[in-house]
Amino acid sequence: MNSLQFHYFRLVFLLGERPLLQLNSLAIFAGWVITPNILMLGSIDALSMALTRYIYVLCSIVLQRFRFNADFFRGDNPEGVEARNEVASLAMEDMIAWMQEGGQVGIFDATNSTRERRNMLMKMAEGNCKMIFLETLCNDKRIIERNIRLKIQQSPDYAEQPDFEAGYEDFKSRLDNYEKVYEPVEEGSYIKMIDMVSGNGGQIQVNNISGYLPGRIVFFLVNTHLTPRPILLTRHGESRHNLRGRIGGDSLLSDTGEIYAKKLSNFVEKRLKSEKAASIWTSTLQRTIQTAGPIVDFPKIQWRALDEINAGVCDGMTYEEIKRNMPEEYESRKNDKLRYRYPRGESYLDVIQRLEPVIIELERQRAPVVVISHQAVLRALYAYFADRPLKEIPHIEMPLHTIIEIQMGVTGVQEKRYKLMD
Ligand code: F6P
Repeated sequence: MNSLQFHYFRLVFLLGERPLLQLNSLAIFAGWVITPNILMLGSIDALSMALTRYIYVLCSIVLQRFRFNADFFRGDNPEGVEARNEVASLAMEDMIAWMQEGGQVGIFDATNSTRERRNMLMKMAEGNCKMIFLETLCNDKRIIERNIRLKIQQSPDYAEQPDFEAGYEDFKSRLDNYEKVYEPVEEGSYIKMIDMVSGNGGQIQVNNISGYLPGRIVFFLVNTHLTPRPILLTRHGESRHNLRGRIGGDSLLSDTGEIYAKKLSNFVEKRLKSEKAASIWTSTLQRTIQTAGPIVDFPKIQWRALDEINAGVCDGMTYEEIKRNMPEEYESRKNDKLRYRYPRGESYLDVIQRLEPVIIELERQRAPVVVISHQAVLRALYAYFADRPLKEIPHIEMPLHTIIEIQMGVTGVQEKRYKLMD
């Protein structure tokens, strides 16, 4: 189980009917065991970001990123090609060295669009790690057009280009350059996603893939997509336990909590009025169900996985009582809040793990979702979307009576906050 395995994913968006155009590419280096690290190289793309976030949840890893200038991705310039080959080979050397020091999952996000480049990387990987290529193909012109426009509006590559049309033309010619050199992946282990972006069918081809982590990644890729949609995260309204400083339990809302439930309902009905397919997700605890109560126009789904962290023998106590009656437990939690598990209860790591099916479902949804849950659970969910490091999760601020809107899309995740009450 401790042998390092290496998987190389390649992400190519093939755009248009005739053209085979590459938008981006991605490589993953993966191990079978719970991984301590992930290394991500190259330009940041929404799918590679989503995959990175997911592996993060699966493996509890530390993330490291390097960004390269967009000019490296031009295919019509011999100096550019040479520079990119050099960068690719340096990146690969770095990854191999890093994996030899114990790294187990890496994502290589680069323009590996030719057989020659892939062969170079595969040779370097030989005897060091395994590789899987990932290729995504899209033949739907409307989606391509939408993605290009969103890319220009939102990508850091074009953040310094104030002229939209100039950015648009630049990106189109970048795609033309890729089209000229592109050779489809037919070698080694690979996953091909064909026309899966629209959500209307499509195809996935899996060649020479086996093992737990690659299997989970195929599962994730089948479910994820880049259709823009918001996810609204909010804690329940203030509960009677909150008023008394008691943790856990299953109490009802306080009067203030009930006022929040009404304000939330007004907000949701205004914000999502044209979103017929939206849904409201709550935990199975009364305070979230009651918070969702006044919202009437959307279906509601209860998830046990959205229940608050189980405080075990401390359930219903105040932090003061825990400190006084169980000082050792109090200290242990203070020293390592992420890993600390309440006696007969849960740790933050347990919560993160049990959220995996919720995350897969959120990735799969194409319509907006309002998640009404609890402090610890929302810290973990928020960290997933906002790409926050594991060790920060138990300390993320998650105030009551505030909505965090996460906008999912082609160029990653954006965030807005709405404070509905003081
Ligand atoms: O106090 C509200 C609450 O949701 C408790 O039920 C839960 O135990 C706690 O927050 C989680 O926050 P922390 O991990 O900071 O104790």
